[in-house]
Amino acid sequence: MSRFYITTPIYYVNDKPHLGHAYTTLCADVLARFYREKYGKENVFFLTGTDEHGAKVQQSAEAAGLTPLEFAEKTSQTFKDAWSKLNINYDYFIRTSDSQHEKVVQDLLKRIYDKGYIYAGEYEGLYCVGCEKFLQTDDLVNNVCPLHPNQKPVAQKEKNYFFKLSAFGDKLLKALDDSDYKIVPDGRYKEIVGKIRHGLEDISISRAGVSWGVKVPWDESQTVYVWVDALINYYSATQFVEGKKDFWPADVHLLAKDILWFHAIIWEALLLAAELPLPKIIATHGFFTIDGQKMSKSLGNVIDPNDLVDEFGVEATRYLILSQVPFESDGDISLKRFRERYESDLANGLGNTFSRVTNMIEKFGRGRFKQGEGGNQFTAGVASAIESSLRNFKFDVVLLAIFNIISSIDEEIEKTKPWQMAKDGKENAIELLLDKWGTMLLDVSMYLEPFMLETTKKMEDALRADKITKADPLFPRLNKK
Ligand code: MSP
Repeated sequence: MSRFYITTPIYYVNDKPHLGHAYTTLCADVLARFYREKYGKENVFFLTGTDEHGAKVQQSAEAAGLTPLEFAEKTSQTFKDAWSKLNINYDYFIRTSDSQHEKVVQDLLKRIYDKGYIYAGEYEGLYCVGCEKFLQTDDLVNNVCPLHPNQKPVAQKEKNYFFKLSAFGDKLLKALDDSDYKIVPDGRYKEIVGKIRHGLEDISISRAGVSWGVKVPWDESQTVYVWVDALINYYSATQFVEGKKDFWPADVHLLAKDILWFHAIIWEALLLAAELPLPKIIATHGFFTIDGQKMSKSLGNVIDPNDLVDEFGVEATRYLILSQVPFESDGDISLKRFRERYESDLANGLGNTFSRVTNMIEKFGRGRFKQGEGGNQFTAGVASAIESSLRNFKFDVVLLAIFNIISSIDEEIEKTKPWQMAKDGKENAIELLLDKWGTMLLDVSMYLEPFMLETTKKMEDALRADKITKADPLFPRLNKK
C-alpha cells in the first residue's frame, strides 16, 4: 500500500507566522492534497506544529509577563489560525509541550544513552539564542551570528551531556550513498557531504541553565537541548497520534536551508544511534527575502500572510506565495509584485479566460466537453509533467505549466475570433473550439485543485452545470475589491 508522510518544521512560538513559515506549510499542504487524491485520505499524514521549549521562548515569555506555557498556548494558536485562514489542511498539529511528545523524547534519548552514545562533559563556547545553537568560530561574521546580527552571542560554560556525533560521519556518508535518505536539491546534498567529510564533532544535547523543556530522564537537573527535543517531533507524532504508527519513516521533511544541518546530520545520526529508519527525503527550499535580507522577526521585515489573505483572498494568496520563487533558490518578494501578478495571472489570465469561455458557451455552444475528465488529448503531456514536477518540489514550474494552458486558450480565442465566426455562420467550428477550451479548463481545474480548492470547485460546478452561463469573475480586480 502506498503511504505518504510529510512534515514541516515546527515553528518557534516566539514569532508569529510570516510568509516564510507560510511557504513551507503551503508546499506541504499542496503535496498532502495531491497524495490524498492519489493514495486515499487515510494513507496520508501531514504534520506541522510548534516548537515551544528552550531559552528563546523562555525569554520571550518573561518579556511578555507570561509563563512559558501560557505564552506558547497563545502564539501556537496564531499559527493554527493562520493555517486555517490559508485553508491549510494538516492532519495533526504537534506541540512540543504536549506530555505525550515529551515522553517519546525521554524514551528515545534513554535508548541512545543506553547504547553508549551519550556522555557527560563540559561545554565552553558561544551560543546564539536566536538559532538556539552553539556557534563555531567560522559561523561568526564580524563577531556575530549572520542570521541574528542584532543579538550578541552568549558565552556559555556549563556541564552538559554530549552526543557522539563524531562516531557517525562514515555511517551518514554510507546512508547517503545507499540512498537510505536523500537531500534535495543537489547543491544542498553536496554541501552536507562536504560538512560530513570535513569531520563531525560531538554536540551538546542538554542544557543546565534552561528550565523550560524536557528533563533528561537519567539526570533531572538537565534539560534536553531544544533542537533534539524538536527534531524528535517527527517521530513522536507517529507514536502517539492514533493510527499513525506505521507512518514512520517520513517520506519528506520540508524545511528551509537555515536548518538543514540539524535535519540532514544531527537528526539522522540520532536515528541511526537509536536504530530507527531514516526519513526518505530532506527537501530544502531557499529564503524569502525582502531587499535581499532574510525575512525574520529579529530583522523586523516580515510580511504577515493574514494581511495577504485580507487583500487578495485565500485562493490568490496561495497562488501568489507558491508561484513567486523557485523552491530551491532565494526569492526577493514585494507586495507590488504580488499585486501585479494578481492582475496579470489571476484577474486577467485565469479569471478573464474563464469568463470569456463560459460566456461564449452560453451564447454559441452546447458544452459537450462535460464528459472531460482531464489528462485528455489537449493537455495529456502536462499531466505527467505536473506530477513529476510536484515530486521534485517544483511548485512554481507546476503552476507555470497550468497557466500556460490558460494562455494558450486565450491566444487561440484571439486568433480564431469566435464572435466573427458566428457572424460568418460557422456554428460547427465554434462548437468544436468551445468543446476543446471547456475540456482544457476542466483539466486546469483538476490540476489546480491542490493549490486552489475553492476556485477549482467553482470552475467545475460552472462547467458541469446543465446549462452553462457566463461565470462571475473568479478574481475581482483589486481596485474593485
Ligand atoms: N523551531 C525550529 C525548527 C524545528 S524543526 C524540528 C525553527 N523554527 S522557525 O520558526 O525559525 O522556522 C524555521 C522554518 O520557517 C524554516 O526552515 C522555513 O521552513 C521557514 N522560514 C522561516 N523564515 C523563512 C524565510 N525567510 N524564507 C523561507 N522560509 C523561512 O527553526
